Amino acid sequence: MNYRHAFHAGNFADCIKHALLVWLLRTMQRKPAALMVLDTHAGLGRYDLTTGPAARTGEWRHGIARLLEQPPPALADYVDLVGRLGLYPGSPVLLRALLRPADRLACCELHPEDCDILRAAFTRDRQVAVHHRDAWEALGALLPPAEKRGLILIDPPFEAPDEFDRLAAGIRLAHRRFPQGVIAAWYPIKHLAPVRAFHTALRDSPVRDVVAAELTLRTPHDPARLNGCGLLIVNPPWRFESEAAPILAALRDRLGDGEAGEGCGIVRLVDE
Ligand SMILES: C[S@@+](CC[C@H](N)C(=O)[O-])C[C@H]1O[C@@H](n2cnc3c(N)ncnc32)[C@H](O)[C@@H]1O
Repeated sequence: MNYRHAFHAGNFADCIKHALLVWLLRTMQRKPAALMVLDTHAGLGRYDLTTGPAARTGEWRHGIARLLEQPPPALADYVDLVGRLGLYPGSPVLLRALLRPADRLACCELHPEDCDILRAAFTRDRQVAVHHRDAWEALGALLPPAEKRGLILIDPPFEAPDEFDRLAAGIRLAHRRFPQGVIAAWYPIKHLAPVRAFHTALRDSPVRDVVAAELTLRTPHDPARLNGCGLLIVNPPWRFESEAAPILAALRDRLGDGEAGEGCGIVRLVDE
């Protein structure tokens, strides 16, 4: 396990994933019934962007720094939350901040030290469980939730060559165990071939009602660079396509540098 999210915290990909995640959870909470949120690859929880790994790469300066400097109206909810939470919040801290009293969050993190740090962040928090366990195994073990309503974030590090295949298998498993669950799965866009193959794998699977929200900073020609990223959503809440589009457009406007191939969009991969 070489990937350490601390080097990348607050970068453009984090902003895209987290801004859409905040919209997803808030929208699901328009219904009063309790929810279970599962964060399968949770990371550390909080990141100091001014020292250590994040300061060394400076990726956050092209990401969350641009949004905090001048928050576009479509991103106000997400950016306010980041501003209010102190140290830069990773997905578990953002999701925890949105829980209502009857909701709960389960987090999995396989890196032992990161898991200890995450566990310490939620000591005595009865609404949060932190598991030192493998994400792919947890999808089978922790689903379906007793609440019968839930949001599952799958955010793998993409350090293994077969990560797209594992992600597609994980989505199929989560959907089989919990067909009504909302699944949000993050993926990198370095070049187009693996992304197309991933979309095709989902189209050819029994999973129904799938959309993908994508943003590219430049034409994805160079496989060595993170040229963009996507969030694939199974069972998106009603009006995802129309309500998430302005969020994505605001992210493109602030995070893009006007390079050729910059763009964003939401595509429906599989009908209901
Ligand atoms: C992209 S980072 C997660 C970032 C986090 N979701 C956020 O948005 O703040 C991926 C994390 O998954 C962890 N990880 C890698 N393989 C895993 C596995 N099989 N099961 C659980 N966690 C894993 C890594 O240690 C890393 O902390």
